Amino acid sequence: MNRTKVDEFLCEALETERGGVKIYEAAMSCAQNVDLRKEWEKYLGETRRHEQILGEICTGFGLNPEKETSGRKIVRSHAEVLIKAMQTALGSGVRGQAEIVAAEAVATAELKDHMNWELIGEIAKKMEGDDAAVLKKAYDEVEDQEDRHFYHARGWARELWAVSLDIPAVIPPPEEKMNVKTGMGAVAAQASRKLM
Ligand SMILES: [Fe+2]
Repeated sequence: MNRTKVDEFLCEALETERGGVKIYEAAMSCAQNVDLRKEWEKYLGETRRHEQILGEICTGFGLNPEKETSGRKIVRSHAEVLIKAMQTALGSGVRGQAEIVAAEAVATAELKDHMNWELIGEIAKKMEGDDAAVLKKAYDEVEDQEDRHFYHARGWARELWAVSLDIPAVIPPPEEKMNVKTGMGAVAAQASRKLM
């Protein structure tokens, strides 16, 4: 395993969580549905905790959590683009647009977050010693939450679009009702839409 790359990746994952906090803060001001706002409030809290965990991992591994890298800049710029899109939608005056743009922004950000934590789980398996135990413990705390963040955000984006297109929609999305936290669960939730 390339330890230098792993260390850089962990700092990028920290940057992803920081961007995630700002994305949820912006998304909250776009949410109209009460259940959606409540969910984003909860996930914002969890994302703040993930940011803290990754900050502690970086420091514990002897890294400078503020060290700038080209990868971090790219991660940061992704978050900035998503936040700008939400601000543009809020300013457009088109009814319901900002909420959909926000749901898509959250789903996009959570896909990256989800992939990061899957990789952190893989790194933990390959690493040895105390560092492996630290990563494994973090992964065990965060993994389920990240699964929910991604699958639930995607469900909201899909159903909000359905509402705006005036086609049958399930609000809150089946992912919520079925408490989806796996890829298979997400497939089952989507398949159940017809019944709901
Ligand atoms: Fe997340």
